[in-house]
Amino acid sequence: MFKTIEWTPAGVMMLDQRLLPLEEVYVTLTDYPGVAAAIRDMLIRGAPAIGVAAAMGVAIGLREVARQSSDEARDAKFDEVCQLLAGTRPTAVNLFWAIDRMRRKYAATRHLNWPERVAAMEREAVAIHAEDVECCQRIGRHGQVLLAGNSGVLTHCNAGALATGGYGTALGVIRAAVENGKRLHVYADETRPYLQGARLTAWELRQLDVPVTVITDNMSGHFMSKGKIQAVVVGADRIAANGDTANKIGTFMVAVLASYHHIPFYVAAPFSTVDFTLSSGQSIPIEERNAREVTHIRDIQLTPDGVEIGNPAFDVTPSHLITAIVTDQGVARPPFVESLGRLHAG
Ligand code: MRU
Repeated sequence: MFKTIEWTPAGVMMLDQRLLPLEEVYVTLTDYPGVAAAIRDMLIRGAPAIGVAAAMGVAIGLREVARQSSDEARDAKFDEVCQLLAGTRPTAVNLFWAIDRMRRKYAATRHLNWPERVAAMEREAVAIHAEDVECCQRIGRHGQVLLAGNSGVLTHCNAGALATGGYGTALGVIRAAVENGKRLHVYADETRPYLQGARLTAWELRQLDVPVTVITDNMSGHFMSKGKIQAVVVGADRIAANGDTANKIGTFMVAVLASYHHIPFYVAAPFSTVDFTLSSGQSIPIEERNAREVTHIRDIQLTPDGVEIGNPAFDVTPSHLITAIVTDQGVARPPFVESLGRLHAG
């Protein structure tokens, strides 16, 4: 089985997702600017996975922090490391959550000598990774009961092991259902422009031996209308306190279609994806990516030169289109302000 990301003595090893499914190439990044570039350029992507990568980026940056000549210079360098990593992608809250946790560990290890402090920060990043895998497995356990056996499930983008520390969120729910003996057929939206569904979800499901049909993004309404899809499960990059959910561009469209066909629409995400500082999804920052992702597929140009291009990487699905939000802490149902609030209170 592949590894999305791993901490090694040499540095942060990750599978270069840009090359999948044609090539399985691992790269090892030995400094924090390299990790930041890998997140920005989408060698690694998916909200929980970029959180893990950022934590490891901070940990590797500590080696440079430790080489500074005074406490002030070290604290300033640490800030620089965190800021560079935080500036890579704006939408997924997991990135900021992981960096904040590394900042807290940095503050809490002030009393240690530098080799001990560097080691403690590395252990924290490795713990964030391990906890993410367990978190996804809990999401799977909570969510699998929502899927009926012998049914079709649509997913959008890739919210699998490739998008997390391992196991996956939306695909974690599907995996857990299959592990519980349910026969499922997955419909994977290709997910233009970056093709996470066609390239990554299809690749992962093939490895897991889960039957999958790749469809283009404009086919989901057709398959719903033909009775092929009994549930939709997607991941999330950020969930506002009222349940509005930012996820890969096109998710909103799928939710509208699911509502029209009375098909349940589930969001699966770590509870840390809920951003309680935002009362609604309107204030979630939406990343605008390079036009080339739309104008080209690899080196093949699709659009005329000079045409105006839009490329928002995410959209926001309003909470009234969401049947339930499956988290590691349990399943929240509408009204989400109350159900998410209850899970938050513990
Ligand atoms: O731009 P990406 O590939 O990072 O977007 C990924 C998604 O939108 C996923 O659905 C989301 O991050 C959840 S991953 C478990």
